[in-house]
Order: sequence, then structure tokens, then C-alpha cells
Amino acid sequence: MCGICGYIGVNGAATKSVIEALHDLEHRGYDSAGLSRVCEGKVETYKISIEEKPDFTASDLADTIPDFHKPCKMALGHNRWRTFGGINKINTHPHYDNDRLFYLVHNGNVENLKDVEKEIGIWKRYSETDTEAIVNLIAKYYKQGSSFSEAVKRTINFIDGANVIVVFKADEPEYFISANKGGPIILAKGKDFSLLVSDPAPLEKFNITSKAPLESGNIAVVDASGWKVESSRNDNESKKRKKKNSKNNYKHFMLKEIMEQAETFANAFRGRLIHEAGTAKLGGLESLSAVKNVSGMNFSREIRRINRFHFVACGTAYNAGLYAKLLLNRFGIQAEVHIANEFCYSHPVFDPRDAFILISQSGETADTIEVMNEIKIKGNVYLGILNVPDSRIWRETDAGIGIRAGTERGVASTKAFTSQLACIVLLAVFLARQRNMTIDTGQKILFELEKLPTKIEESLKSTRKISAIARKYLEYDNFYFLGRYFNLITAMEGSLKFKEISYKHSEAYPLGEMKHGPLALIDQNFPSFVIIPDDSVFNKSLVNVYEIKGREGKVIALTNKSKEKELKKQVDDLIIFPETLDFLSPILSVVPLQLLAYYTSIAKGINPDKPRNLAKTVTVS
Ligand code: AGP
Ligand code: GLU
Repeated sequence: MCGICGYIGVNGAATKSVIEALHDLEHRGYDSAGLSRVCEGKVETYKISIEEKPDFTASDLADTIPDFHKPCKMALGHNRWRTFGGINKINTHPHYDNDRLFYLVHNGNVENLKDVEKEIGIWKRYSETDTEAIVNLIAKYYKQGSSFSEAVKRTINFIDGANVIVVFKADEPEYFISANKGGPIILAKGKDFSLLVSDPAPLEKFNITSKAPLESGNIAVVDASGWKVESSRNDNESKKRKKKNSKNNYKHFMLKEIMEQAETFANAFRGRLIHEAGTAKLGGLESLSAVKNVSGMNFSREIRRINRFHFVACGTAYNAGLYAKLLLNRFGIQAEVHIANEFCYSHPVFDPRDAFILISQSGETADTIEVMNEIKIKGNVYLGILNVPDSRIWRETDAGIGIRAGTERGVASTKAFTSQLACIVLLAVFLARQRNMTIDTGQKILFELEKLPTKIEESLKSTRKISAIARKYLEYDNFYFLGRYFNLITAMEGSLKFKEISYKHSEAYPLGEMKHGPLALIDQNFPSFVIIPDDSVFNKSLVNVYEIKGREGKVIALTNKSKEKELKKQVDDLIIFPETLDFLSPILSVVPLQLLAYYTSIAKGINPDKPRNLAKTVTVS
């Protein structure tokens, strides 16, 4: 949510009116505030954020405006409650396009930002916000020949998510255009002025003669005498968007989401790699430092002082949390992982200075929210690794890292998982470089991370082979998924996918643990998927493969090309995936297992997007 106020009037009170309105809208967002006004045909923009003045008010913004009472007939103001991009002046609204023709404020989240940026084509960003992309898309359509209102309609239809925008054109400062798709905006007018506000609070200060909400699905052209409302639906655009947003040409959302992982994985780290320093730039954490500055301490120093991190999550996100624990430990940082629905009952031991990191695709999982509420009472810092901006956990955590996977519709989580792992690698490097990791090691990891989208593409090429394996083992009802060390993460995630959408029983186990009991189940009817890449535990894993084969167990090995020859003779089937650093291997080895679950599911005539008994987001605990 945020505070919006647009004023257009003939009596030149625009600046003062908007500042007064922003005062009454402070409850809707106080990360930063900004105002653009048109005086003598020139647009002036002023901004302030908690970064420079932690407890700023609209009066502080007013103080930045020279010649405050200069007669202006149009001004547009915004109180920001950030959801996309850190809290700082550059991200403060209003935002303008590259040619500074349009000035816009925005409430909401663009859920298909990647598509929007692609649709704009060549443009130059100055901020991290989704808002800046909106105003540049309007400019793009306008330059293509659409009228201003047509360009707004096309834009509001193209962007996904709940959004409200108010925009004016610098060379026609006589009117605003506002578009509403799922948010609040009120139109109001007095004798010789009109207002647009995102909340009725400021209206008491004005002599309003009439007001009306701008309904979702409409746009309004607002000038000093009032407004004209029309539908923003322009059918072919929304039809095109519907098609694009559905499954494209895939049969199921799950397959679409598996196949778009190279792109979504790249999104997770885009703009976040600082190669020269061998570390990551995590804006969300910086925003926390802005909050912590209130106590005079810079959060990044505090992060430096945190000795132990606790990851908390459910399901696939828990598997990502286990990965996070292993990776931080690998880099010499203490880390624990907790199943959210066990946390509040298992008397976990932690220090007040420990930080908690909640991992959740939806940001609405009740079990994870329950832990968040518990941690709030304890007073520990708590961050999020999340996918859905404005979700409950996103809104309430101190700060966090957005995984930017886009909307995930398949109940079985796929692209969110690999993007969670990407963000965990960024976090681990960020923290380790503040501690003992050398710049050289950090650079090597970032360099390899950047190669993974291409390697994911390579992993995705094995669909025919995987589909054949799915059919070959269709009649079996029980499976093990096995791996050592980082490969155990893949085994756990692969097993969860397999169970969820094929309804076959599968169990993930540490490969070395088999001889302590689970081996008893092995016979020719109990196949095992074993993740055994060319890494530090390969030889030990190979011994375990022999133990299974020695008891007539079938083994389907997932390995790298370099081990293909050695394994070919020992196992029943081989799935090859690309090599990488051992701790990055789960990002690549999970892809064939996602496909295996998918092809097994459809071979059984199941709709993998809506498996029985499950829900995409578990909002009950
Ligand atoms: C994973 O495929 C499942 N859909 C489920 O385990 C899911 O990961 C879990 O419910 C957690 O959801 P969240 O990430 O939205 O919190
Ligand atoms: N998503 C926009 C941003 O982060 C708007 C946020 C808001 O509604 O204040 O700037």
C-alpha cells in the first residue's frame, strides 16, 4: 500500500495541497515521499527517504522545495511503502520515463516485471523499482503511436498483479490519467480543482463537492473541472496477455515453470553480483540497515556480528533451508534449519542475537507465519527469502531477499526452489565475504553461478530420456531417493516432487544411512534413484551403490559426464547432468528429478498442476 495524491486546480495551490494530503496519507507508507509539480511549464521533482531522515514527515519534504508557494496548477505526490527495490531516494516516486515525458506514481506490484521489461525493449533504468518499468512502458506505447490514454490502457492491461497508477504528461500539464486494476483510488472535486487520493483521509481538508471511487478495470482522465471515466479493458491486449500468462504452449503450468528455470534462475541474481568485490548486493538487507540506523547502528555491521542463522520453512522451502544450513556451514558460518510446524513445540535453543530467515514461496504459509510471530515475541532479527511481494511474511519481516521467480502456479514447487537456492548462494557469499571468505573464492563462486542458467538449459534437454525412464519404472510403487552431503538436498526435493504428483511412495535418505536399516527394503521391486556426481563423496557413494546392487536393487544414477563410463556398467539407468562446484550441484541435479516427477505423473493420467489432497499455499497450521 502507499499514499497517492494528485492535485490539478486553477488557483495555483497544488504544492501546498499535495503536501497537506501526504501528511494525512503517512500511515499508508513512510519509507520515502516525493512530489512532482509543474510550474511555468517546467516539471520539478523533490524526494526524501528514511535513509536521510529516519522519521521524516511531509513537512520535511516541503522543506526541500524551494519557493514553496510558487503558483503551480498541478502536483503529484506519493508516500512509498516499498515492495520492489530498496528504501532510498532514487527509488522514491514519482518516477519518469527515459525521455522525462511522463511522471507517474504507483501503488501495488508488477508480477510480470520480466515480461514488462522485455516489452519495453531498449531502455535505461535509474531505479530498482517495478514502477519505473510501468512509466517506460507507457512511453513506449505512446512512441509507437498510441494516444496517452490508449498507452495507459495498454500498459495497465499488460502488467499483472493489483496495481493503481496516476500519471501526467509533462507537455500537457492540464490533466492526470489514472488506471485502476485491483487497488484503491478516489476521485474528488471542489469548485475549481480536482484530486486523486488513495485514501479518503485527506479529503476532510478540502471543500469537496463530489467524489467517487475509480473502479477497478477503469481509467479516468482528470482535469480541474472533473473527470471522465472509461473502461481500460482493451480486449485484444487482455486476450493476448491471458494467453501469454497461461501455460504458453505447455500442457501444464508445472512443465512451463520447470522449463523457464534458466530464465528465472538468472533473474534471481541479476543486478546482485559485485564481481570486483566477489560478493553480492542484497538491497533488501540494506533497507534493514536503514531501519537499524534508528538505533544508530548500521545493520550490515550487525549482520557481521551475527554468529548463527536459523532457517525456518516447510516442504520444498524446508529443503532449501537445509541447503542453506549446509552451505553456510561449508563457509564456516553457524546455521540451523527448522521445520516450521515443529519449531514452536520442540524447544529450540537460540541466542537473542541469532537471526532467523523464513523461506517461503507464497509468503502466506501458516506454519511459517506462526514461527514469525513467535520470533517477533523473542525480539530476534528475522528476514525473508520470499517470492510474492506484499505477501504477509514479506510485509512483516524486517527485510529480505526477493527470489523474483514470478508467479508459480503448479502446486509442486519447481522454479521457486532453484531461485531460492540462487538467493541462498548470494546470501552465503555475502555473509562469508564479511567473514573469512577471500575475494578470490567469492569471485570464483559468482563466476560459476553466472554459468548455471546455461547449464540448467542443458539439464532441461534430457526430457526424452527422463520421460522414457518414467515409463520404464511406471509399474513400481516404492522408491528410494538417495544422496550424500549436498546431494541429499536433491534426493529430498526429488522425492517430495515424486510423491506429490505421482502418488507413488518414495523416501529420501542419506545414502550412507542405507546400511543402518533401510537396505532391508531393497529387492528387485524397490528401485533407487541415487544422486552421485563427480564430487568429494563419489567413491563412498559408489560403495553404497554396490551395496544396493548386491541385493538385486535397481539403481538409476544421476551423475556427470566424467563418471558416465565408470558407472554405466554398475547401474541400470544413467541420467547425466552438467558439472559444477559440488555445493552448486543441487541446482542442476534437481532438474531431471522435477521432470521425472512430471512425466511419471502424466503417464499415470494425473494433472500435475492440481494433485489430490494438496493446495499450493497451506494457510492452515
Ligand atoms: C512443494 O512442492 C509443496 N507445494 C509444498 O511443500 C510447499 O513447498 C510448502 O507448502 C511451503 O510453501 P511456501 O514455500 O509457499 O511456504
Ligand atoms: N511496487 C512499488 C514500489 O516498490 C510501489 C510500492 C507501493 O505501493 O508503495 O515502489
